[in-house]
Amino acid sequence: MSYSKDVINKVIEENDILEIVSEYISLKRSGKDYKGLCPFHHEKTPSFNVSQEKQLYHCFGCHASGNVITFVMNIENLSFKEAVEFLADKAGILIEEENLSGEEYKRKKIRDEIYSINRLAALYYHRSLYSKIGQAALRYLYDRGIDDKTIKKFGLGYSPVNGDDLVKYFVGQKYNIDTVYNAGLILKNDSGKYFDRFRNRVMFPIIDEKNNVIGFGGRVMDNGKPKYLNTSETPVFKKGKTLYGINYAKKTKDDKFIIVEGYMDTIALHQSGIDSAVASLGTALTIEQGKLIKKYKNNVVISYDADEAGVEATLRGLNILDELNLNVSILTVPNGKDPDEFVRKEGFDAFTRLLENTETLIEYKIKKYKQNLDLNNPTERIKYIKKVCQDLSSIKDKVKRDVYVSIVAKDAQIPESTIRTEIDRFVKGFKQNNEKIRYTVGNNRHNIKYGSVKKIPSLKYLIALLLIDNKLYNRIKSKIDFNDIDDELLRPVITFIVERLEDGKETNVNDVSFMLDNAKLKNEFNDIFDILYNGKEINEKIVDDCIKEIVKDNLNRKISRIKKEIDESYISGDIEQERKLLTQLQNFEKEMLMLKNG
Ligand code: CTP
Ligand code: MN
Repeated sequence: MSYSKDVINKVIEENDILEIVSEYISLKRSGKDYKGLCPFHHEKTPSFNVSQEKQLYHCFGCHASGNVITFVMNIENLSFKEAVEFLADKAGILIEEENLSGEEYKRKKIRDEIYSINRLAALYYHRSLYSKIGQAALRYLYDRGIDDKTIKKFGLGYSPVNGDDLVKYFVGQKYNIDTVYNAGLILKNDSGKYFDRFRNRVMFPIIDEKNNVIGFGGRVMDNGKPKYLNTSETPVFKKGKTLYGINYAKKTKDDKFIIVEGYMDTIALHQSGIDSAVASLGTALTIEQGKLIKKYKNNVVISYDADEAGVEATLRGLNILDELNLNVSILTVPNGKDPDEFVRKEGFDAFTRLLENTETLIEYKIKKYKQNLDLNNPTERIKYIKKVCQDLSSIKDKVKRDVYVSIVAKDAQIPESTIRTEIDRFVKGFKQNNEKIRYTVGNNRHNIKYGSVKKIPSLKYLIALLLIDNKLYNRIKSKIDFNDIDDELLRPVITFIVERLEDGKETNVNDVSFMLDNAKLKNEFNDIFDILYNGKEINEKIVDDCIKEIVKDNLNRKISRIKKEIDESYISGDIEQERKLLTQLQNFEKEMLMLKNG
């Protein structure tokens, strides 16, 4: 647990969910609640609802539900603790470090230490680049068209060839070498001797949006392998979580980011005056990176290499960005060049012209389907039509859609009307999924998929009901033995609530929100928030159904336990014990029968 329950409660109470959500999406009043386009899935008609009264949100499309903390966690891509800090900051609540548990405090210390080690290392590499030993590296950078100003701006450097210069440097600075090891900058050989991870490479410090040096990439200057070496995973560096260049790109006046593949692409673009470039560092764009983009911009241009791996990566990246509701377009650099080569040769103006002629997602997809499918082959032609129609069904603008319909009709040589009918099928399918759901109590072991009826596991249901109406506890308490509950994840939740109620304290969902810190529980809580949001009046039947399911569940477990014990006493010949257990078993089975019938 990171912060105290009181701090968390206060943070929730002092941040109005309506205000927070409105910073990200535009909401319109709809009855008592507010409505807008869901930021968590792609949609064209609003199904994301916010209740100011309940301080919760719920999407009828993708079923995301939660409170202000889960909203910030999901949209800002933050951990629970970071979300609490983020919201505390907004509400002007001071949360002191004493509020951090011992463990948390230690972790923060370690992270801070790694940041300062990385910063020192970056300076060390940078000085090496401009010293005698760095001459070749400096020439390499000049040859690739990078000037001194850009080298300084990006803090580029050189890691010496000797193999332990950095180790010596940090030892000289009186640093604990184990800490430097934790920063992923040095390695240990079999005899326990430390040596530098990066040797004879051009160094690119990777800097996050808060200007922390989180890691490094190092490039060989010849054809050696690997071409790029990165910092290993450390408490502050995870590949795929950050975007190279974000520290500068976040300040761009442009309304978009340009995502490129590599360090050199980013640097070359910035040097030429295109200050919105960031790199995903490698080919696979991750959802975390998508969220990081969304934090700053709604528009993004992908410009990956045109090779096969690049195209694959572009398509995957596109889907990720599209699902995050970002406007994506694709810039293909001509003649198989990468952005670095292109902008260096052709310059700022030429690149800007490319930017004016990007393809939309749909155009790019249609083009790729056509490249990969043989439209003269009937089976492939059908595949082509279906794929395109599915894509087109998400375009709401009729004019836009019609333009593509006529293109596709020509390509596939079938009437436009057939294509429209096919698109309608996809649109209808989408609407059906958007229907309101009905809830029923389900067995704890069954998680039925979303449809128009949703079975909620009884225990989760009961937790939600108790949070809605504390008084229900009186109806429940004599019937369920909470310590008997099998569910390792949810038992602590229900016992926490029960303890509070036993103490005569009122309890609402804010009081249990500290548990969202547990990623698995956070998922479970989605259903709980869902019921809190949608639960109409509570009727006794639902409550009793929940109780029954839970008691049945507990009883079933007791029965199988006792059966095992009976087998054991039979084997050991303990007839006395066996008889006693058999009587117990009979009682349990009678109880079960009664439950099932009554
Ligand atoms: N990359 C990596 N490890 C590798 C190869 C590539 O981490 N072994 C990452 C780097 O961030 C690199 C990006 O993937 O910048 C793109 O790779 P690639 O296209 O191979 O390199 P370029 O950026 O074109 O590198 P350069 O122009 O320096 O040859
Ligand atoms: Mn390149």
